[in-house]
Amino acid sequence: MKYLITGGAGFIGSNLTNMLIAQGHEVVVVDDLSMGKIENFNDLSKVEFIRGSIIDGALMESVLTNHQFDYIFHLAAVASVADSVARPLETHEVNYNAVLNILDFIRKHQQNLKRFVFASSAAVYGDDPELPKKETSSIKPMTQYAVDKFAAERTAVIFNNLYDVPASAVRFFNVYGPNQNPESPYSGVISILLDCYTRNLHGEKIGFTLFGDGTQVRDFIFIEDVLHALLLVAESENSLGQVFNVGTEKETDLNQVIAELNKIYGFKLPVTHEAARVGDIHRSVADISALKSLGFTVENTIFQGLSKLVEFL
Ligand code: NAD
Ligand code: UD1
Repeated sequence: MKYLITGGAGFIGSNLTNMLIAQGHEVVVVDDLSMGKIENFNDLSKVEFIRGSIIDGALMESVLTNHQFDYIFHLAAVASVADSVARPLETHEVNYNAVLNILDFIRKHQQNLKRFVFASSAAVYGDDPELPKKETSSIKPMTQYAVDKFAAERTAVIFNNLYDVPASAVRFFNVYGPNQNPESPYSGVISILLDCYTRNLHGEKIGFTLFGDGTQVRDFIFIEDVLHALLLVAESENSLGQVFNVGTEKETDLNQVIAELNKIYGFKLPVTHEAARVGDIHRSVADISALKSLGFTVENTIFQGLSKLVEFL
């Protein structure tokens, strides 16, 4: 099969690319390397890598006219909620306008596509007290990131319904695993934490900045489970035109994550507190009944996933 993975050099995208390549598939990646890294690929010689931005319409049109894809996973985005608060206009260009453009090229040029899978986010639900979040729960975006994710997933569904572009969307909760770039302050919290532990192990005295009191709750899901969910959604007939939460249904707060990592590493990480970030959600946990109806099961608890990740590093 032939796959296009936008954002394929990033965290989720590179894990997906490496898995598909190992299974013998052809993979084309478009990534501007703003967060992703070439080194994330296990074997670059097997990937058709195109360095460029998804907001470059001419580039995306040429990719979508020169290849016929079986599956497209659209993962490229400004992936940080906090980054979107700092850069709302750039976020909108990448996270919404580029998606509309790409869907329109797909409508015109990709007649044999089996599925377009859009990476949306749990952020669309906002901080409404109703938990766990079901796909039918109220949508209360609190940031441009969340507004654009919701708009883009709806556009994908509309292209499915109006133009027969076969599309589905996934609302990822908080994904962690190898290849999550820790270098930006806007990286995922687990990658930043692990980087702090590793640097302390190597003699640097690095403190972790905890925004808020650590009681913020997330539904952390390990990358292996996410890859399983992505393939199920892409390949299932019943997922066509639908949106799926991708989480574990388990709540963990940041204080618990740090306590567990202190145990795994065998020392206490120095933590300094700053005010909670604006636009931050306090509690987020998924209901994944819809995903389970496609045959999904969660294989890794947060503690199993963290242990695997630390071993991998
Ligand atoms: P990531 O930042 O590691 O990956 C995104 C990739 O997109 C990066 O490689 C980056 O270089 C690339 N990119 C950014 N802007 C681009 C542009 N204009 N053109 C081309 N490439 C561009 O993030 P990730 O965690 O792998 O997230 C993948 C997708 O999943 C994103 O759409 C993100 O919003 C979504 N998501 C992630 C999580 C999570 O917990 N990681 C949760 C919910 C949703
Ligand atoms: C994450 C994803 C986002 C996704 C959302 C879905 C990333 C970068 N963000 O956002 O793409 O849409 O889940 O639920 O992958 N924190 C600290 N110190 C730090 C960094 C973060 O205390 O150095 C805190 C944050 O303030 C937040 C929590 O950790 O309360 C989680 O932050 P983050 O990993 O950025 O995730 P989300 O904002 O939930």
